Amino acid sequence: NNRVCHFKLVLLGDTAVGKSCLVVRFVRDEFFEYQEPTIGAAFLTQAVVLEDSTVKFEIWDTAGQERYRSLAPMYYRGASAAIVVYDVTNAESFKGAKSWVKELQRRGDPSVIIALAGNKADLAGTRRKVDLKEAEEYARENGLLHFETSAKDAQNVKTLFVEIAKRLPKA
Ligand code: GTP
Ligand code: MG
Repeated sequence: NNRVCHFKLVLLGDTAVGKSCLVVRFVRDEFFEYQEPTIGAAFLTQAVVLEDSTVKFEIWDTAGQERYRSLAPMYYRGASAAIVVYDVTNAESFKGAKSWVKELQRRGDPSVIIALAGNKADLAGTRRKVDLKEAEEYARENGLLHFETSAKDAQNVKTLFVEIAKRLPKA
């Protein structure tokens, strides 16, 4: 059938890892080299059409700068899905991602579907600082989806949202 289901999805991760760029790529298929840091949070919607249902994502793109950290629970509370983003050229951002995963597992919805996205994969050839195997291993141990993505060249961006959509329970 063609049931339409609405789900709240939140993006979390350190500043400048590319959360807003991933959302803008997914929603508008655009990319900006000079994307402004998010203030507070941004709200966007986008649908994914699956074989037997349509998933309408209500997306909260949070601000990664430290001063906004305390706002995060407002955005992940009640979220059915979360994308935790790190930058494959920034080892510190992978540590940040792990701490977001921990927080979601402790304080998020018990059934929240978490995807870990290693963004800026277009730069991995020369500037990689986060090992793919290590990230995959961590994701497997923690029951997370994992993709390396690029908002710049669009690699795996649609796939990331589609794979989350497939796993959401369509009541
Ligand atoms: P906050 O809003 O502060 O939390 O940052 P953010 O995670 O939303 O990062 P944002 O999307 O603003 O991107 C930060 C910078 O990284 C921008 O200058 C982007 O152009 C760049 N960027 C984002 N995604 C990619 C990518 O996939 N590849 C490359 N090469 N650059 C990217
Ligand atoms: Mg942003």
